[in-house]
Amino acid sequence: MKTAVISGIGSSLPEKVLTNQDLEKIVDTTDEWIRTRTGIRERRIAGDEPVSHYAIEASRRALADAGIGPGDLDLIIVATVTPDRLVPATACFVQHKLGAGRVAAFDIQAGCSGFLYALQVAKMGIVSGTYRNALVVGAELLSKLTNWTDRTTCVLFADGAGAAIVTAGEAPRGILSTRLYANGEMFDLITIPAGGSERPISVEGIQAREHLIRMKGNDVFKVAVRSIEEVSRQVLADEGLTPADVDLFVPHQANQRIIDAVGARLEIGADKVLANIERTGNTSAASIPIALDEARREGRLKSGQLVLLAAFGAGLTWAASLVRW
Ligand code: ACO
Repeated sequence: MKTAVISGIGSSLPEKVLTNQDLEKIVDTTDEWIRTRTGIRERRIAGDEPVSHYAIEASRRALADAGIGPGDLDLIIVATVTPDRLVPATACFVQHKLGAGRVAAFDIQAGCSGFLYALQVAKMGIVSGTYRNALVVGAELLSKLTNWTDRTTCVLFADGAGAAIVTAGEAPRGILSTRLYANGEMFDLITIPAGGSERPISVEGIQAREHLIRMKGNDVFKVAVRSIEEVSRQVLADEGLTPADVDLFVPHQANQRIIDAVGARLEIGADKVLANIERTGNTSAASIPIALDEARREGRLKSGQLVLLAAFGAGLTWAASLVRW
């Protein structure tokens, strides 16, 4: 049976490290609060370069890993909430600067679930035979849209990019069941109120910092744990599997306590749960491909393993995908 496999992976993080001690000098917080409430010790923060810079670096690494060149791509999808510009899509900058052909290129905006949404679109394109090689990127520079005077959010967010090449393969390898969900009723839990067509950019909006991320973290926390558990059980059940069959669980890196709570509810041992939030912070749509790339480089991701990916984020959106690596 024809399947869609992840044949290459790569990531790129800014060099600059921002520690909790650095944040103590910016807002009223402590290293202890951040570590115990979020699990984060440090995060990477970009300079003046746009998000496409990191998306392209991650893409080049993924292409090299897959053993193909930019000219082999026929679909490029970038999942991001922090595009280079509102218009055009960051995927078009990636297509141009990578030197890819005149192929389909567009962005997906599904908050922190964006990478899994993009992966599903790529899978459908590959399995249907429409495309041969898709580049799926999760890339974010959340630091650019962070309110650095808001201690409830600025300690969480970070920058980085991860990329995957999705190509046709044969079962049992491949992207198995994937489920994507959204509930727009909860749009206000994570939002950037101004800068779009509802509230175009204005001096008043900027003064009120409405062009920056706002989050009701505590409410998001509760929904996140419930929805990740539920959608993870669904994709496993779709394949006649249970959490006990999972070799590696790679959740969106939003908060160590969310990761631990979901792992405990699914009864997946801590040794099978991938967490790098301590060093990367929350990189939104980039967190899963960055973690996958890290796992692969550390030898934790092996051929034949059953990998469970799960995420939630602004929208609210949530998603899970099962991959036979
Ligand atoms: N330093 C010190 N104290 C703080 C800080 C800080 N950085 N931030 C908040 N506090 C205080 C609060 O003011 C509050 O004080 P009070 O009790 O006097 O009112 C207290 O700490 C507790 O605040 P809570 O919000 O209840 O803390 P909580 O334990 O919920 O942790 C956090 C907050 C870390 C934001 C958590 O709720 C969380 O991680 N939520 C999920 C966030 C998330 O995953 N978002 C989704 C993806 S993001 C995206 O899509 C871009």
